[in-house]
Amino acid sequence: MVAISVLLLLILVLSCSCISESIWGGYGLAMTSGACAQVSSRMPAGSVSYCGQSINIASLCRPHSVSITEFGAIGDGVTPNTHAFQNAIFYLRSFADKGGAQLYVPRGKWLTGSFNLTSHLTLYLDEGAVILASQDPTQWPVIGPLPSYGQGRELNGARHISLIHGENLTDVVITGKNGTIDGQGLLWWEWSRTQSLNYSRGHLVELINSKNVVVSNLTFLNSPFWTIHPVYCSNVVVRDVMVVTPANSPDTDGIVPDSCTHVCIEDCYISTGANAIAIKSGWDDYESVSFWKESADIVVRRVVGEAPSSAVIAFGTEMSGGISNIQVEELVVRNSKTGIRLTTAAGRGGYVTNVSLRGIVMHNVVTAFEFTALYSSSNAHLILLRALHDPPASYPVVEKILITNTVGENISHAGDFKGLSMAPFKDICLMNISLEVISGGFDWNCSGIQGFSTNVFPQPCSDLRSLADESVCRTAIIQPTTDTATTTTISSKSSSSSSSWQ
Ligand SMILES: *[C@@H]1O[C@H](CO)[C@@H](O)[C@H](O)[C@H]1NC(C)=O
Ligand SMILES: *[C@@H]1O[C@H](CO)[C@@H](O)[C@H](O)[C@H]1NC(C)=O
Ligand SMILES: *[C@@H]1O[C@H](CO)[C@@H](O)[C@H](O)[C@H]1NC(C)=O
Ligand SMILES: *[C@@H]1O[C@H](CO)[C@@H](O)[C@H](O)[C@H]1NC(C)=O
Ligand SMILES: *[C@@H]1O[C@H](CO)[C@@H](O)[C@H](O)[C@H]1NC(C)=O
Ligand SMILES: *[C@@H]1O[C@H](CO)[C@@H](O)[C@H](O)[C@H]1NC(C)=O
Ligand SMILES: *[C@@H]1O[C@H](CO)[C@@H](O)[C@H](O)[C@H]1NC(C)=O
Ligand SMILES: *[C@@H]1O[C@H](CO)[C@@H](O)[C@H](O)[C@H]1NC(C)=O
Ligand SMILES: *[C@@H]1O[C@H](CO)[C@@H](O)[C@H](O)[C@H]1NC(C)=O
Repeated sequence: MVAISVLLLLILVLSCSCISESIWGGYGLAMTSGACAQVSSRMPAGSVSYCGQSINIASLCRPHSVSITEFGAIGDGVTPNTHAFQNAIFYLRSFADKGGAQLYVPRGKWLTGSFNLTSHLTLYLDEGAVILASQDPTQWPVIGPLPSYGQGRELNGARHISLIHGENLTDVVITGKNGTIDGQGLLWWEWSRTQSLNYSRGHLVELINSKNVVVSNLTFLNSPFWTIHPVYCSNVVVRDVMVVTPANSPDTDGIVPDSCTHVCIEDCYISTGANAIAIKSGWDDYESVSFWKESADIVVRRVVGEAPSSAVIAFGTEMSGGISNIQVEELVVRNSKTGIRLTTAAGRGGYVTNVSLRGIVMHNVVTAFEFTALYSSSNAHLILLRALHDPPASYPVVEKILITNTVGENISHAGDFKGLSMAPFKDICLMNISLEVISGGFDWNCSGIQGFSTNVFPQPCSDLRSLADESVCRTAIIQPTTDTATTTTISSKSSSSSSSWQ
C-alpha cells in the first residue's frame, strides 16, 4: 500500500483580534472589529483539518467587516442590488493588505446581477440571507471563453459571466450561516431547451486561476448552468454545502473542479439535473484550444448525491488536460442514473489515472459504474479528425482505477465498461463489491478493458479477471483519509495564508 504522505505542517494564522461585539446598524460604513465569531468549532484557530489533512487554506476571520446595507442594498427581492455588491467589493479591495475584510449579507432577499470578488475577502450570508440572481441576461455580461475550452461550453465565442465571479484571486471565503444563493435558472433552462441563447449560460459561482478558496455552510439553488466551478485553481475546499437543482434542469452540474489541484469536497448534499460532482480538465484536443492543465490531488468524501439524469461522480467528459490522484470515499448515491461515470473518446487525448473509489453505498441506481471511451459529443467530428490525424497521442489513457468496499441495492446494471480496442482501460481493480442487480437487469458488460477483481458480486466479466494477481491494485490503493489532529502553531502575524500545498 502506498502510504499517503502527511502533507504539511501548517501554520494557521489568525492575527485578528476577534472581538465579537458587533456595531451593525450604523450608517456610513460602520465596521465590526472582527468576523471571527462565525468560525466553527470544527475550524478552531490554529488547527484546520480539511479532508483529513491539516492545511491553512484561507483566512478564517477578518479584521474588518461591512454590511451590504451600508451600500444602499435593499433586501426586498425586487430591487436590483448589482451596484451595491460591486461598490461594496470595490471598497473592500482597500483592505486586502490590512488582513482582508468581510462583506456581510443579512437576512433578506437580495436581488443582484453578476459581481466580482476580490482577494482576502469573506462573503458571509447570515441565516435567512438569500442572494437572488437576476433573470435579465444583460446583468450577466459576456466574457471570453476559457483557454482550455476555446469557445463557450454551449455556443461558439463568448459566454455569460458567472453570477459570483473571480479571477486571479487568493484567500477567498464564501460562507455563512446556511444562507442561500439562488440562481433562479428557470428562464435560462428554457432558453437552452428552445435554443434561444445568444451566448453560453453563466455558472452560479466561477473562480478562475485562484488559490486558497473556501466555500462552506451555504445552500446553492437553481444554477442556470454549473453551480460551483473552480477552474485553474489550487487549494480549494467546498464543505458543508447543499447544492440543489431540479432533476430535469439541463447541464446544472453541482461542483465542478476543472483543471484544479488540491481540492477537498466534503460533507455535502448534492441533488442536480446533471452530474453532482464532475471532475474535468479542459475540452477537446482541437486547434482553438490554447492550453490544458490537469486536475489532480482531489479528495471527495462524505458526500450524498442524487443525479436522476446523470452521474453522482463524473470524470470528464472534458478531460483533455488529464486527471490524476483522485480519492473518493464514504459516498452515498441515491436515485441516480449512474453512480460513477467516466466518459471520454478517441481524439480527446489526456488521461485518467490513480483513482480510488472506496466505501460507496448505492440505492436505486440504473448503472452503478459506467466507463466509456466511445462517448460522442457535439464536436465529435473534430475529435474524430484529430484521432485520425494523430492516433496514439489522441487516445485517452485510462488506468489504475480501484473500486472497493461498495454495496448497492436496486441496481439495474452493475457495470458498463467500453474502452478503446486500440487503447484499452488498464489496471482496473474491483475488490469487495456487492451489488443487488434487479431481475431482468445486466451484470457487467466489458470491452476494451483489463483488470483484476476479487470478492465481487455479481461476478465480473472475464476481462475484469484477466490479471492473475492483485499487484495492479496496489498502485491505486490509497489509504483512507483520517481525521487525526495535526498540531499547528500560531506563529505568524500575517493574516494571509501560506499553504505548503502550493
Ligand atoms: C457549518 O455546518 C456544519 C454542519 O452543519 C456545522 O457543524 C458548522 O458549525 C457550521 N459552521 C458555521 C460557521 O456555521
Ligand atoms: C469581472 O471580471 C471579469 C474578468 O474576470 C471582467 O471581464 C469583468 O469586466 C469584471 N466585471 C466587473 C463588474 O468588474
Ligand atoms: C489574470 O492573470 C492573467 C495572467 O497573468 C492575465 O492575463 C489576466 O489579464 C488577469 N485577469 C484579470 C481579470 O486580472
Ligand atoms: C439550510 O437551508 C436549507 C433551505 O434553505 C434547508 O433545506 C437545510 O436543511 C438547511 N441546512 C442546515 C444544515 O440547516
Ligand atoms: C438574444 O439577443 C436578442 C437580440 O439582442 C435579445 O432580444 C434577446 O433577449 C437575447 N436573448 C437572451 C436569452 O439573451
Ligand atoms: C495516487 O494518488 C494519491 C492521492 O490520491 C497519492 O498519495 C499517491 O502518491 C498517488 N500514487 C501515485 C503512484 O502517483
Ligand atoms: C429502483 O430504482 C429505480 C431507479 O433506477 C427506481 O425508479 C425505482 O423506483 C426503485 N425501486 C424501488 C423499489 O425503490
Ligand atoms: C467490504 O466492504 C464493506 C462495506 O461495503 C466493509 O464493511 C467491509 O469491512 C469490507 N471488507 C473488507 C475485508 O475490507
Ligand atoms: C450487456 O450484456 C448483455 C449480455 O451480454 C447484453 O444482452 C446487453 O445488451 C448488454 N447491455 C448493454 C447495455 O450493453
